[in-house]
Amino acid sequence: MRFFLIVLAALPCLAGCDVWQSAAAPGPSGDVQQGAQLIVKSGCGTCHEIPGISGADGHVGPPLDHMAERTIIAGFLPNTPDNMRAWIENPQAIVPGNAMPNMELKDDEAKDITAYLYTLR
Ligand code: HEC
Repeated sequence: MRFFLIVLAALPCLAGCDVWQSAAAPGPSGDVQQGAQLIVKSGCGTCHEIPGISGADGHVGPPLDHMAERTIIAGFLPNTPDNMRAWIENPQAIVPGNAMPNMELKDDEAKDITAYLYTLR
């Protein structure tokens, strides 16, 4: 009986957790090479460690390794390509007052950066 209850309690998670697990699954449409260049140009590496980007060894923000496999961005956003792009474009709108500034990136630029970050497994 106890076992049955535990199984029952886990059931809603089957549907719910699936959403989280497939978070980064659909590949973003940006240009990976272009994304890497934009990361260098924007100076993301002054605040983040980013694998594959030379000189990106900052410790102000979290390291961006394994970004393709993370479930959550910035502590609460599900890691989908759209959410990642929205975060990169306008982190202040999402978490007002956090230490990541808006970098004035265009939609396409944020898309390219997202494509690069999703190569990090
Ligand atoms: C001035 C420092 C700073 C700069 C510059 C900066 N970030 Fe951030 N970034 C942060 C901080 C701090 C956080 C954590 C914010 C939070 O969780 O509320 C963050 C969070 C992130 C996250 C979410 C990481 C996670 O594990 O949840 C991503 C992705 C990200 N930044 C990408 C970028 C990119 C791409 C650039 C360049 C376009 C950039 N950042 C520039 C400080 C910075």
